[in-house]
Amino acid sequence: MKKVFLYGNWKMNMLPVEALAFCNDLLTRTKGGLYNAASIEIALFPAYISIAPVVQALPDDGIIRGGAQDGWFEDRGAYTGAVSMDMLRSVGCTHVLVGHSERRSIFGDTDALVGRKLRKALNAGLVPVLCYGETLEEREAGLTTKVIERQLKSAWEGLDVAEIAGGRLTPAILLAYEPIWAIGTGRNARPEDAQEVCALSRNLFKERFGPDADCPILYGGSVKESNSAELLSRPDIDGALVGGASLKVESFLGIYENYRRAQAEGGIM
Ligand code: 13P
Repeated sequence: MKKVFLYGNWKMNMLPVEALAFCNDLLTRTKGGLYNAASIEIALFPAYISIAPVVQALPDDGIIRGGAQDGWFEDRGAYTGAVSMDMLRSVGCTHVLVGHSERRSIFGDTDALVGRKLRKALNAGLVPVLCYGETLEEREAGLTTKVIERQLKSAWEGLDVAEIAGGRLTPAILLAYEPIWAIGTGRNARPEDAQEVCALSRNLFKERFGPDADCPILYGGSVKESNSAELLSRPDIDGALVGGASLKVESFLGIYENYRRAQAEGGIM
């Protein structure tokens, strides 16, 4: 049975009080049954101000974790508005997104900056989720492979294999392929296209870090209950990084439950 990584990026949504209500509901609905550490890992990525309360509300059971949507690459200093990786770690945060396309396009994160953040996250003992993906223009111009290669290679330049040792089930790092044209548009990538890029990503990872190196690869971009079974059944898609559908417990967990249901019925692939 495949372990599913169900990660929810809340972006700039939810007040702390709403985040806590979400956690309470989530905990009630994930007791037993399909929910155990061998079958699923959930991570929530709230806005900075909600990270501490969310982490405190979550049990330390290895099933649900708390992460941040970004983090800065220096430890301290004159960086108005920034939050360091150590600060995130100090409030019990275990994961951090780096290189999300909204950080790249709205806040100007370059490939080089993403690489520095990635290295810092690893140094701080956080598990980074490296996000990358092409624009629609790049896809239509046949540049997808080139763009993915550039983003990945520049992000992990200078990393040592020991830093990313962990593997596919207990990762030290995760990759999240998010084609920009599929984010928040309701238009997900075709499962075969998502699979192709995730397989390419895994190959690049192994080329760079050795044949035994591995990590989970998530797909993100309009993932919802209705398309999760097809996406998650692909061999190189280990999970989903979910935006809109992660804001309600029902639609968030429905992504996983639909996949499991389809699998139990033997109806996928
Ligand atoms: P949507 O699921 O809303 O398309 O967002 C995807 C995303 O950006 C997750 O990081």
